[in-house]
Amino acid sequence: MRSLPPLASNGGTVTVHSTGEARAHDSAVLHVSGAARYVDDLTEPSDLLHAAVGLTEIACGAIRSLDLDAVKAASGVVAVLTLADVPGHTDIGPVFPGDPLLAGERVKYHGQALFAVAAESQLQARRAARLAKVEYAAETPLLDALQAKAEERFVRPPHHMRRGDAEEALSTAPHVLEANQQIGGQEHFYLEGQVSMAIPQEDGGMLVHTSSQHPSEVQKLVAEVLAIPLAKVTVEVRRMGGGFGGKETQAAPFACLAALLARKTGRAVKLRLPRADDMRLTGKRHPFCNRYRVGFDDDGRLLGAELEVVGNCGHSPDLSDAIVDRAMFHADNAYFIPNVAISGYRSFTNCVSHTAFRGFGGPQGMMIIERAMDDIARAVGKDPLDVRKLNLYGGPGRDLTPYHQRVEHNLLGELIERLETSSDYRARREAIRAYNAASPVLKKGLALTPVKFGISFTAQHLNQAGALIHLYTDGSIQLNHGGTEMGQGLYIKVAQVVAEEFQVPLEQVTITATRTDKVPNTSPTAASSGTDLNGMAARDAARTLKRRLAEFLAERDGVPVASVRFEHGQIRIGDHALSFAEAIQAAYFARVQLSATGFYRTPKIHYDRDKAEGRPFFYYAFGAAVSEVEVDTLTGEYRLLRADILHDVGRSLNPAIDIGQIEGGFIQGMGWLTSEELRWDAEGHLLTVGPATYKIPAASDAPEDFRVALFDRPNEEDSVYLSKAVGEPPFMLAISVWSALRDAIASLADYRVSPNLDTPATPERVFWACEAVRGKHPHPSPLPGGEGTDRSRTGTPHSAATPDNPLPLRERAGVRAAAARALPPHPLPEGEGTDRSRAETPYSAATPDNPLSLRERVGVRANQTENPS
Ligand code: MTE
Ligand code: HPA
Ligand code: MOS
Repeated sequence: MRSLPPLASNGGTVTVHSTGEARAHDSAVLHVSGAARYVDDLTEPSDLLHAAVGLTEIACGAIRSLDLDAVKAASGVVAVLTLADVPGHTDIGPVFPGDPLLAGERVKYHGQALFAVAAESQLQARRAARLAKVEYAAETPLLDALQAKAEERFVRPPHHMRRGDAEEALSTAPHVLEANQQIGGQEHFYLEGQVSMAIPQEDGGMLVHTSSQHPSEVQKLVAEVLAIPLAKVTVEVRRMGGGFGGKETQAAPFACLAALLARKTGRAVKLRLPRADDMRLTGKRHPFCNRYRVGFDDDGRLLGAELEVVGNCGHSPDLSDAIVDRAMFHADNAYFIPNVAISGYRSFTNCVSHTAFRGFGGPQGMMIIERAMDDIARAVGKDPLDVRKLNLYGGPGRDLTPYHQRVEHNLLGELIERLETSSDYRARREAIRAYNAASPVLKKGLALTPVKFGISFTAQHLNQAGALIHLYTDGSIQLNHGGTEMGQGLYIKVAQVVAEEFQVPLEQVTITATRTDKVPNTSPTAASSGTDLNGMAARDAARTLKRRLAEFLAERDGVPVASVRFEHGQIRIGDHALSFAEAIQAAYFARVQLSATGFYRTPKIHYDRDKAEGRPFFYYAFGAAVSEVEVDTLTGEYRLLRADILHDVGRSLNPAIDIGQIEGGFIQGMGWLTSEELRWDAEGHLLTVGPATYKIPAASDAPEDFRVALFDRPNEEDSVYLSKAVGEPPFMLAISVWSALRDAIASLADYRVSPNLDTPATPERVFWACEAVRGKHPHPSPLPGGEGTDRSRTGTPHSAATPDNPLPLRERAGVRAAAARALPPHPLPEGEGTDRSRAETPYSAATPDNPLSLRERVGVRANQTENPS
C-alpha cells in the first residue's frame, strides 16, 4: 500500500469550502488546448468501419423502389443497412411511436434517413451513400402549422388549462387586445455534431460511445433494435461538445445505426454526421404560432386572457407533448392572470421532428405574454416596465398559476426593483426618449423583461437520479453519477458537492465518464435539473460512506458517533484526528465497505394532466434583464448596446460556472430571436444547412457593455446546498432584446403603435416593421410620408432574401457582421437617406417556395395593435 502524506497537526491547516467557490470547469484546460477527447477523438479500434446515412429527397410520399446496388458496389463499402435488416424494433420513438429508424414505405420529411452504409473510410461511406437510386411517388407536403391545426392534423391531442372564466372576463373588460405572434425555430448548432461509435463485444453485447444527453435511453433503444437484453449494452458518455436539448432524444438514432452496422459486420462502426446532414436529419426548436386575447383595465392590469400556442412539431411526437405543455406552463411567465384559458396544439408537418432545445417550449410560451405586456403598455400609454410590474404574481390572491400551482417564494418584485436601480433604467429611458426625438433614423430601444421558469421534469418519473462513489485506500475519491457533461459544468458542481460533504479539497475527487453500467436507469440530463438531481444523489452516496466511516471510527476509538467529524481534509475522532487516507486505510483493514450508491427523487411534485392541475415544479428560478438596442430604421440593422442581468441561482454552487451559463444562455437566446433563421422551401427542403446561411451569434454580437450579477439568496426549497438550476432559465432573458427592438421601432410612432415583429427579428423583419409603423403614422423621416410602405401592392421579389438564392444571404451576413462592429450614423442628410430602388423592392410572398414569407406577414399586419381608447 502506498505511503501516506504526513498528517497535518490537529485542528487542520486547510479550510475546505468547495461549494460556493468559483472554480474553473474541470475540463477548461483540455477544452482550450484541444486535448479534451470527444467521441471522434477516441483511439479507434483497428477494425473500425465508418458509416454514413442516405437521405430522402422528398418531404412526403411513398417509396416506389430503392435500388442500392451502386451503393453496395462502391469502393470500400462493407455493409448496407435498410429497415428490413433490423432484427428488433424498428420504431425508436422515445415516448410515443412514430419515429421509424429508417424510412420504410413512406417518407415523412425531406432528409429523412433511408439507409445506412459502412465502409473502410469515412469518405468512401459518404460517397457511397449518394449512389442510391430511389423512385418516389411524391405528394404535396403539409408544411404550415396553422393549416395543420385547421385540418386537425396533430401529432398529439390538444390540451387545455384554465382557471376562472376567461370568456366572461374578456367580455366585460374595459379594453381588449388581440394579436398573433410567429416565433421561429432554432438549430442547436452544438459544435460537436451527432456521433456514435459502437464496438461489438464477445458476448453478443455492444459498447457504445456516444454524444448523448440520455445514455440510458440510447442503451434501451440499441438493445431494442438489436433484440438483445439491455444488460448486454453499455453506453458511455464522457462529454458532449454541446447538447442544448438536441441530444436528449435525437442522438439515439445514430447510435442505433452504428450498433446495427456493427452487429451486421462484426466490426466496430463509427457514425459521425457531417454538419449539413446533421442539420437536415435532426429536429430543432419548435417554431410556434401563438395568439393572445387579453382584457385589461385603464391601468393595464390584466383581467383575463385567452392564450393559444401552436407548436410546429414536425412529423412525429418525439417530446412534443411535454414541450407544448411547457410552453403552456410558461405562457403566463411572471404574471398573474385572474381568468385564463390556455390552449396548446401540436401540429403535424412534413418536417423533421422538432425536439428539446434549451427552455423546452418555455421560451416560445413566454413570448406571447411578453408581447401582450408591451402591447398593453402602448395601449394605455405607460412604460412597459410599469405594466409588467403591475401584473407580477404577488399580493393577496394573486399567486395561482393557470395550472393551479402556487407561486411561492417569488423574488421578482425585489429582483426587478434592484435591477431597475442598478441598470439605471429610468434615467436611461429619459435619455433614450431625448435621443430618439433628435435622431430621425437611428433609434434606441430599451426593455426590461423578467423570467420565471419552473424547475423539474414535468414527467414526474424523470425526477430521479443515482450516483456511485468509491473511496480508495490512498484517500482518493472516484465519483460517478447519471448526469452527462455537455459543457454546462455539471461534473464539477457535483464534484464540489462531494468534496464539501467529505470536507476534502476538490482535487481529491476524480470525475469519471457517465456509463450505464455504473449507474443504471438514469434520466436525461435535461430540464436544467442535472445538478439538482445528481448532486443530491451524490450527496446521498457520500453521506452513506460518511456514516459507515463514522460508525466504524467511533466504535474503534470508543467515542460517540456524533464526535466523529469530517473537517479540514481530515477526520476528527473526539480529541484526535486521522488524515482522510489513514481513516480509509483503517476502514479497509476492518473490512468496512468503501463504495456506495446514492439516490434521489424530487419531493412535493405531482401533476394531474387530465385536470391540468397540480404542482409540476419543485420551485421556480427567477431573473430579469434590461437590454438597450440601437436600430438603423432605414436598413433594419441593429445592435445590442448594453445588457444588464440579475439572475437567481439560489446559493450558487459555483459562481464562475453559473455566470457562464447566464451569459451563454442569454446570447444563445438572442441568436434565436434575432439572427438565426431557418428557411424551408415550398417542397419542404431545409435551405439553411450550414453556418454560411444559418447565423448564430458571433463574439462581436455580444454587447460591449454586459453586466451579469447573481441574486444571491438561498433557495427556500431544500435543493442541493440551497442552489437553483441555471441551465435554461437565462435563455429567456433574451426576450428583452426583442422587446427593446420593438421599443425602438415603436418610437417611430411616438410609442402609440405596438409593432408586429415576428422572430427571428432579422434586420429585414425590423426594416419592414419600421416601414409598417411609418406607414400608419407618417413620421418626419427621410422617406416621403407613407411612400414605399404598402408592400402588398408590388410584386417584385426582394432578391436579397429569396430562399432559393443563397448568395444574397451571404451578403446579408456580411452586412450584419459589419453592423455588429459599429453601427454608423446614417451618412446622408434628412431626405436623402434612402436607396429608392432597394426600398421599393418588396420581399416577395409570391415566391412559390416560401408560403410564409415576410411580405405576406407584413401584408396581413391588420392586427397591428393600437390604442384602443
Ligand atoms: N451549457 C452548455 N455549455 N452546453 C449545453 O449543451 N445545455 C443546456 C444547459 N446549458 C447546455 C448548456 C440545456 S438545454 C440544459 S437542459 C442544461 O444545460 C442541462 O444541464 P444541467 O441540468 O446540468 O444544467
Ligand atoms: N424538460 C426537459 N426535457 C424533458 C422534459 C422537461 O420537462 N420532459 C422530458 N424531457
Ligand atoms: Mo435541455 S432542452 O432540457 O436538454
